[in-house]
Amino acid sequence: MKKIHLLLLVCFYCTLAIAQPPQVKSTNTFAIGKESFLLNGKPFVIRCGEMHFARVPREYWQHRLQMAKAMGLNTVCAYLFWNVHEPKPNEFNWNDMADAAAFCKLAQEAGLYVILRPGPYSCAEWEFGGFPWWLLKKKDIKLRTQDPYYLERCKIYLKEVGRVLAPLQITNGGNIIMTQVENEYGSYGNDKEYIGKIRDYLVEAGFTIPLFTCDGPSQLKSDVRDDIFSVVNFGGNPEESFKYLRNIRAEGPLMCGEFYPGWFDSWGTKHHMGATGGVVKDIKYMLDHKASFSIYMAHGGTSFGLWSGANCPPFLPQTSSYDYDAPISEAGWTTDKFYALRKLFGQYLQEGETLPEVPAANPMITIAPFKTTEVAPLFSNLPASINSVQIKNMEEFDQGYGAILYRTKLTADAKNVDLNIKEVHDLAYIFINGKKMATLDRRRNESVCKLASIKNGDVLDILVEAMGRVNYGGHLHDRKGITQGVNIVDANGKSKSVENWQVFPIELNNNSIPANLKFTSGKTDMPAFHKGTFTISKPGDTYLDVSQWGKGLVWVNGHCLGRFWNIGPTQTMYLPGPWLKEGSNEVVLLDYIGRGKKGLQGLEKPILDSLTEKVENKKHRKEGQTLDISNAQTTYEGSFANGINQQTIKFSSTAEGRFFCIEALNSQNGRPYASIAELYLLDEKGKELPRSKWKIAYADSEELSGEDGKADNVFDLQSTSIWHTEWQGKAPKYPHYLVIDLGSNQKISGFKYLPRQDADNGRIKDYKIYITNTKFKGL
Ligand code: GLA
Repeated sequence: MKKIHLLLLVCFYCTLAIAQPPQVKSTNTFAIGKESFLLNGKPFVIRCGEMHFARVPREYWQHRLQMAKAMGLNTVCAYLFWNVHEPKPNEFNWNDMADAAAFCKLAQEAGLYVILRPGPYSCAEWEFGGFPWWLLKKKDIKLRTQDPYYLERCKIYLKEVGRVLAPLQITNGGNIIMTQVENEYGSYGNDKEYIGKIRDYLVEAGFTIPLFTCDGPSQLKSDVRDDIFSVVNFGGNPEESFKYLRNIRAEGPLMCGEFYPGWFDSWGTKHHMGATGGVVKDIKYMLDHKASFSIYMAHGGTSFGLWSGANCPPFLPQTSSYDYDAPISEAGWTTDKFYALRKLFGQYLQEGETLPEVPAANPMITIAPFKTTEVAPLFSNLPASINSVQIKNMEEFDQGYGAILYRTKLTADAKNVDLNIKEVHDLAYIFINGKKMATLDRRRNESVCKLASIKNGDVLDILVEAMGRVNYGGHLHDRKGITQGVNIVDANGKSKSVENWQVFPIELNNNSIPANLKFTSGKTDMPAFHKGTFTISKPGDTYLDVSQWGKGLVWVNGHCLGRFWNIGPTQTMYLPGPWLKEGSNEVVLLDYIGRGKKGLQGLEKPILDSLTEKVENKKHRKEGQTLDISNAQTTYEGSFANGINQQTIKFSSTAEGRFFCIEALNSQNGRPYASIAELYLLDEKGKELPRSKWKIAYADSEELSGEDGKADNVFDLQSTSIWHTEWQGKAPKYPHYLVIDLGSNQKISGFKYLPRQDADNGRIKDYKIYITNTKFKGL
């Protein structure tokens, strides 16, 4: 072989060695024993806490990890978000806040093991559950199935994950002890072969440590395979919840994969808190029973930029703050919950474990009130346009995030027409000749804008703002913009499709404001970018108070802090000190609704619990409305058993109808409240009916101020959220009523009722069921 070839070969192998982090074989082992986890062959209880490095400024990773250690954890659990690591097909990103390997190494330095949750689907109230938007460019893609294109992309992504992170497994001298396969797949499907495929990709990618799946108690059976370890996720009642796990697998350590100390917030709903007492009680139970657990979230952090997701149905976008009422707050502060858990964990340290000092909090600063001084109206700062005869969604214009403007000239005069937009994903601001006519909000399934008169030649602008893509629930294939079409329906009901659009894809991103914005001094209430500067002597963390603004996004020195919306509950945005600089700093806000006084300031404390939308408007019972079922025929009547178990009720014969009403007659504990966690209806074969078209038609009472007790919670697939009748201010007595509009006639042979899991208030005892194909009187 010629010398030159030999030289080239040697160089090639040297580069390979450099590319691959060194595989240091180590003697450390981690395994799943018959009763407990085995760390180097010894029983080991995992005291884990979830933390998403993509939700924490890189400069603060070490601080948050040291906080976790000081709280008494021995492990951190971290999702990977595919859309962060593969923003474009085959283009991988492991830089800055995406540097997963660095995060693991910092955890190791802090004395923490890592449980890795690479996906491909992660949920987590993250944009699209972590999936990259470009998957949706394939029109017929079927996510989370054995769809060949989807699997091929999963394989490529997981292979890359293995390249970067498999070398950090405990068996290679690293600290990664377990890796999760998919995420709560049981609440989405039951194709166990698909789970097997994802597991195989992880093994092929180099993961030799134990792999596992996670699910809620009643979803375990749809996902668990004998050849993959499994954990159960729950927010209370560990004893009962672990019974579900033991029913599925008799052996192996008990582990709660997600134990919720708080919960996430959605725009327009009450801020969620978790009582410290209950959290400590349940975790103590697990420790006393040598069960392992992972606190979801130990530290929530922030969904900076455009990364927050949404649940659907009903469409509920999440806030950018992901404080989650976690023991370690959004800014990395200690809390009562932190100290209560530190005290508890201090009593359960295992051999060689220590409880280090609590690190100091990062400095906070205030920023004196200031105003923006320049404006760049959106309509005069539009990107290049694309002509399109038909309406298309954002992804078809190769756009991932931001907003999209659809413009056309109307071609006829008409009076009292309906502009029908199907479907608005997610908020549509409608203008005729530059004059704001209406806003359509997907949260309320709004799709029609009434126009008193239109003229031939009028310019119709439909500006559609995309909130986060759905991360959880049946509507995962969540394309943005206008998804089907626009019609004008005239006063005689004649419908005509609107065509010939000039489309402006307004791409927005996390690391910079759009280029070439032309700012001028002046004011506008139209959608616009507003710019201002403020000066500080010493950088520090702060909470930017945006309560005086309408709805949009904020960038500070180019960093996108996230979304704001004056309906609340959050009215401030976490602004990390490392993103500020001594002297002058720049803030730019995009405000779609612009009605604010345009003042800003930096606060030392967050505002996480200030709703401004009238709760009355959100209730499913209008003022003076009363349901009348006096002449409705009873389909079934019975009594629920007490406790947290899901109960399946079979009717003596199959009923048929579109409206399902449950009349709750009294409660298990005799108090005046009614509550339900989840309701499923069964078709004539006893299979669960899809719930994606369901809407709440009526609920006699909903507690929306003291907690998020909205009736929609009975079909949001979350066992931790509940319908709860009013208790703050007033507590209406039984009977209580809930009516669901199924969207169309259904054959129903029974139903499943999941009671409230975390407390007994509201658990229903006796009840009656009514099913009709026409609306009940009073609806
Ligand atoms: C589920 C998911 C998590 C997260 C929590 C709610 O259990 O697995 O990713 O969405 O719910 O915060």
